[in-house]
Amino acid sequence: MGRLQKILIPFLGLVLAFWFYSARDTFKPEMLRGKRVIVTGASTGIGEQMAYHLARMGAHVLLTARTEARLQSVVQRCLELGAASARFVSGSMEDTAFAQHVVREAQVALGGLDMLILNHVGASYFGFFDGDVEHVRKLLEINFLSYVAMATSALPMLKESEGSIVVVSSMAGKVGFPFTAPYSATKFALDGFFSSLRQEFAIQSINVSITLCILGFIDTGQRKAPTANLCEIRTSSKPPGPVCKLQPPSPPPGARLVPALPLQRDGAAAEDSHPFAGSSTGLLFLLSTREL
Ligand SMILES: NC(=O)c1ccc[n+]([C@@H]2O[C@H](COP(=O)([O-])OP(=O)(O)OC[C@H]3O[C@@H](n4cnc5c(N)ncnc54)[C@H](OP(=O)(O)O)[C@@H]3O)[C@@H](O)[C@H]2O)c1
Repeated sequence: MGRLQKILIPFLGLVLAFWFYSARDTFKPEMLRGKRVIVTGASTGIGEQMAYHLARMGAHVLLTARTEARLQSVVQRCLELGAASARFVSGSMEDTAFAQHVVREAQVALGGLDMLILNHVGASYFGFFDGDVEHVRKLLEINFLSYVAMATSALPMLKESEGSIVVVSSMAGKVGFPFTAPYSATKFALDGFFSSLRQEFAIQSINVSITLCILGFIDTGQRKAPTANLCEIRTSSKPPGPVCKLQPPSPPPGARLVPALPLQRDGAAAEDSHPFAGSSTGLLFLLSTREL
């Protein structure tokens, strides 16, 4: 019996894994056409590339990060690639009021929201924990609290559109590696909060999906990590969450909205030359894990 169990259990595991990963991919780029999407941390790296994918699929994109000049050129590129519209709001996610302001802008400028992609990440160090508690607090505000604030503010709109929340996380949010203690803590917090929220949505039959993207190292041209490797994707099918009360704050000082530029579709077929372009298909897959 013992020997049978030793063979049977791994075999069953293999069959289940095969069944799960060989499921037919029902994604079609048209699903994103005309959808209203916020992408945070969109001035560089993964967020920038997600914006380009969404633009190619004809979505309305509202981008945010701190560096206005970068956002301006990403918006321009999105329009060239075929975005239905592209605009940005610049500011820092250290300020919860700014996070909520970005969501409110989607309501004002786009009339609602179909997908909220939370991707931005504050700078941290790679090394032994240096005892700087303030750094941990600041990183939690940027990498975690602003995610919670944006999801909370966006929930009424996402419920209306039966939309999606996409949270970009990391292997460091699943396993405690050395030298990344503050960063790792913020990513674990995301997993705890959004995984729990997903269950609550399911219990309450709230039709908003939560996808947690667990990424390995990706060379975005800024980091020197050598491989692009999507390790795990978790998707829920349309679970919902608590009704969160939206109390839009007034725009924080320094926050700036830039209106949508005129639509240009000339360059829609052009491939972008960002060094990450070749490895961003994994993110396209993230966007494809459920129907809108
Ligand atoms: N690349 C990897 O190897 C890897 C691996 C695992 C997980 N991830 C996850 O993937 C996501 C994107 O990573 P990435 O490599 O693309 O990072 P990145 O290139 O460093 O981009 C980070 C983005 O966040 C913005 N940002 C930084 N501080 C901010 C603040 N205080 N307020 C608002 N925006 C801020 C940055 O723009 P500004 O500086 O203009 O504000 C930038 O657009 C992150 O959540 C990261 O944890 C990445």
